[in-house]
Amino acid sequence: MYLTPTLKSPGNLIEYFLGHIHPQALTSCLASIVLAPEENSYVLEMCAAPGGKTSHLAQLMNNTGLIVANELYPSRHIPLGHTLERLGVLNTVITGYQAQEFPLKQRFDYILADVPCSGEGGFRKKKESSIYRETSEKQKLPDLQKKIILRGFDLLKEEGEMLYSTCTYNPEENESVVSFLLQNRDAVLLPLDAGFNSETGILEWRDGKYDTEVQKTARFYPHRINSVGFFMARIGRKR
Ligand SMILES: C[S@@+](CC[C@H](N)C(=O)[O-])C[C@H]1O[C@@H](n2cnc3c(N)ncnc32)[C@H](O)[C@@H]1O
Repeated sequence: MYLTPTLKSPGNLIEYFLGHIHPQALTSCLASIVLAPEENSYVLEMCAAPGGKTSHLAQLMNNTGLIVANELYPSRHIPLGHTLERLGVLNTVITGYQAQEFPLKQRFDYILADVPCSGEGGFRKKKESSIYRETSEKQKLPDLQKKIILRGFDLLKEEGEMLYSTCTYNPEENESVVSFLLQNRDAVLLPLDAGFNSETGILEWRDGKYDTEVQKTARFYPHRINSVGFFMARIGRKR
């Protein structure tokens, strides 16, 4: 991983087209680094397009093992496939299930649930469009995220690890979803040190009070880390 804050359009460089580089927000890179899949492991990325994190996971695994890159929308399989092909990823297959109904036939060593979210973490970058608007679609997100986190947990092997991540600040999409998992499954939150400045998860917001365990989650704020805002929770099974 290289930090290049002054490089304006890395996607126009010849190195990009040759598959030597893939530009990503720092916080997006940290998700794969925190999950840290071992070589020759089974990995599921539940919501994978356009593939920045999948390809980074493949790199960390030295192109060994197997990654299932799942993405619901067929139109997004095209950029996902392009990213994987351009970067020479060889250990990945693409599937098109609803993440919350991903078949329970195969369990995984590592799971990334980088779920669809309201995207508030990108507001600083987009500037002029940075006004939060409630829409009925946004209001439905926490329900979907809760279904995805439960299914992800059920797909984990006994010793498996899952990373739940969003690029939003909304506690209803973050701490509330993680608390819901803790209430409904034998899940534990694992320590999370991404090596960059972060705050712990919050314990209450408006009428919501969350499990005290959520203090083990991490909130990354743009003004602290100079990147897209992010939330991460590292999850394992109770033993
Ligand atoms: C935050 S983006 C994922 C970004 C991706 N992990 C990356 O690093 O490039 C969430 C993705 O989930 C997809 N998605 C939305 N609803 C889904 C569902 N129910 N099941 C699976 N994927 C879904 C969206 O189309 C979008 O591509």
